[in-house]
Amino acid sequence: EKTIFTLDKLLITYMFDRGRKGSTGWTGQDTNGVSLRRSKRGWMWNQFFLLEEYTGSDQQYVGKLHSDSDRGDGSVKYVLTGEGAGTLFKIDEKSGDIHATKRLDREEKAYYILHAKAVNRFTNQALEGESEFIIKIHDINDNEPRFTKDLYMARVPEMSDIGTSVIQVTATDADDATYGNSAKVVYSILEGQPYFSVDPETGLIKTALPGMDREVKENYQVVIQAKDMAGQMGGLSGTTTVSISLSDVNDNPPRFTKTLYEFRVPESTELGSAVGVIRAMDADIGENAEMDYRIISTDGPGMFDITTNKSKQQGILPHTSVFQPLDFEKKRQYSLRVQVENVHINPRFFSMGPFKDEATIKIIVEDVDEPPVFERASYVMEVKEDAPRNTVIGSVSASDPDDKNSLVRYSIDRRTDMDRVFNVHAGNGSVFILRELDREEYAWHNISIIATEFNNPRQSSRVPVYVRVLDINDNAPTFATNYETFVCENAKANQRIQTVSATDPDEPLGGHRFFFSLAQEAAGKANFSVRDNKDNTAWILTRRNNYNSLQKSIYHVPVVISDGEFPMQSSTNTLTIRVCTCDREGNMKLCNAEALTARAGLSTGAMVAILLCIIILLMIVVLFAALRRQRKKEPLIISKEDVRDNVVSYNDEGGGEEDTQAFDIGTLRNPEAIEESKQRRDIVPETFYPPIRRPVLPPAQDNNGDVRDFINQRLQDNDSDPTAPPYDSLATYAYEGNGSIAESLSSLESVTTEGDQDYNYLSEWGPRFKKLADMYGGDNSDRDS
Ligand SMILES: *[C@@H]1O[C@H](CO)[C@@H](O)[C@H](O)[C@H]1NC(C)=O
Ligand SMILES: *[C@@H]1O[C@H](CO)[C@@H](O)[C@H](O)[C@H]1NC(C)=O
Ligand SMILES: *[C@@H]1O[C@H](CO)[C@@H](O)[C@H](O)[C@H]1NC(C)=O
Repeated sequence: EKTIFTLDKLLITYMFDRGRKGSTGWTGQDTNGVSLRRSKRGWMWNQFFLLEEYTGSDQQYVGKLHSDSDRGDGSVKYVLTGEGAGTLFKIDEKSGDIHATKRLDREEKAYYILHAKAVNRFTNQALEGESEFIIKIHDINDNEPRFTKDLYMARVPEMSDIGTSVIQVTATDADDATYGNSAKVVYSILEGQPYFSVDPETGLIKTALPGMDREVKENYQVVIQAKDMAGQMGGLSGTTTVSISLSDVNDNPPRFTKTLYEFRVPESTELGSAVGVIRAMDADIGENAEMDYRIISTDGPGMFDITTNKSKQQGILPHTSVFQPLDFEKKRQYSLRVQVENVHINPRFFSMGPFKDEATIKIIVEDVDEPPVFERASYVMEVKEDAPRNTVIGSVSASDPDDKNSLVRYSIDRRTDMDRVFNVHAGNGSVFILRELDREEYAWHNISIIATEFNNPRQSSRVPVYVRVLDINDNAPTFATNYETFVCENAKANQRIQTVSATDPDEPLGGHRFFFSLAQEAAGKANFSVRDNKDNTAWILTRRNNYNSLQKSIYHVPVVISDGEFPMQSSTNTLTIRVCTCDREGNMKLCNAEALTARAGLSTGAMVAILLCIIILLMIVVLFAALRRQRKKEPLIISKEDVRDNVVSYNDEGGGEEDTQAFDIGTLRNPEAIEESKQRRDIVPETFYPPIRRPVLPPAQDNNGDVRDFINQRLQDNDSDPTAPPYDSLATYAYEGNGSIAESLSSLESVTTEGDQDYNYLSEWGPRFKKLADMYGGDNSDRDS
């Protein structure tokens, strides 16, 4: 008979009964008060209880097995088998006392099923049948409540009513929920008051304060505690943090940052470009801050628009009117009233006032110096091609939009009128022609006229002027082509040998009408006649039979062609008709000799061309030769020119044909010649040649005193001349002297075989002059210098 009692009441009964060892039975009552009767049996009980987490130093006593047949003589041996027998639970085989060897954890294993036997120690005979019993681990509150998450995240709309659920938190307790309050958890709020509350039993967090404003405080850290033992003292607790943020609702209207915006825009602002940007602020975020701008009134309808930039929530004011450009001269200021409004409005907050705002915008147009403006976008002028020079063909007009009274100057853009056909009066814009026009050359002259502000030449604008040249009948009609006409020798009278037509570069309005006739002077004895077909063509007809090429091989028929215009123009065109032999069908067989040679060989034109080419070639050859000769002479010319810079010539006579060793002045300048000629002394520094002082002859004997004076004077003049060139220069003088006994007046004449003695009049002047004398020295006794 097995009975497992697990009711708490019975445990208490046992504990009470435990003291009455050896009793043979006991009674109890069930919950309904019905008496429970237990029949006598060998084992006294079959359920033990044990406290978990026993911390005592000795082994915990579990209970005692006892058999009725145990007389206390030690013959009974108790044997324990089952879960944990021998390890967790040990039995004293004599006394039947069971001890637990270790700490046990109910949360690990709540009960152990064991089997007990009582045997005779000596005979091993079973004294009692094997019986199953349970050791149940008694719970103690050794586990604190644990939340399912360490951190909870939650959102609740701002401005929520009190008691709005936010989130539910849950904590569990590992202790035995069926026994005692060890697992009975109660929630409370440690942090987060007074904004939030928590339901003690369910853990549901709710708002506890009305009108929580995200714009004031957005995030809250709420700490919730769960405590077991139903929240009583001594219970274990655990906490968690709930991060609660308020989500936005549209509880704030947009507000303009200013009540009056002022924008300054230059009048040159282009169509579509923004004249200003306005911005309203909204404390809300996301779509609750989205807004629309619009113009509610303006004093310039259509001039401006306002668009909303969704990403930046700005109102942009572009200038929109095609027809009314901003014009300082017309309207200097515009005033607009604009409104901004939230796009998404929450009806709950209507009471908080209108979710829109208004502001005034002032747009001030600023003056810009604008270029002159022509009255028209383009001008078309017409002029007859026979108009004389300086005829005024029209006029243009432009004015400065900034100041109607400021002067404008006109000019022709010469790039459009390279040939200088037109001119414009700078003051009044009258366009006139500078030369005669020819419609047949250019029917249109498309030019540009520039208007420039007189006071500010940088401000200019241009206008196209289309000048159409009107036709005047100034051209006579001529043959359309160069006709090659022949007449057969066997031709009959009135036979058509050619159809002619005409052209005329003029362009009469009704088209051309040409008249053909035979020239008056040829009409009498004409051999051909002209028949006007009245369709701008004419036929050339024979007038008689039989033309003989031997008699006359070529006829020239003058044809007068006139146009029907006014003034009538006519011309006489000569048709050349050759006489040829033909077959019966009229096909040309043989023409006169001249025509044949012309065809077989080269035409006279080609011959002339070839001849011309040869002549040109010859001329080029001759020209080349001439040029080469000229080039050979060149160095001489150059040196001549160079020397001219250095030599001041005073009527130098030179040595004549016999003067073969005369000093080559060319070497003065030619650098190579300087290198070669070591004899040269004209530029040798004076220090190399210290002045040689010679005794001056007494004045009585000095016949050349006046010459010396003369040369002294000249030398002094030269030395003190501030304009004299910096390099050595040669000056020659002619001096005749007075009363000299010498035949020649040459100062150098006395230089003969006697040598240096006669230089005495030079001695005063030093080596510089002596050098010059040396140059001209030697045997040139005939020299006058
Ligand atoms: C402009 O001036 C020129 C020269 O004085 C004159 O011939 C012309 O008629 C004027 N044009 C106008 C439009 O007054
Ligand atoms: C000048 O302008 C006229 C009219 O626009 C046009 O017909 C003509 O072809 C133009 N001529 C030249 C040379 O551009
Ligand atoms: C017509 O032909 C004859 C003879 O062939 C000639 O003498 C006369 O000059 C010609 N008349 C003209 C106008 O060429």
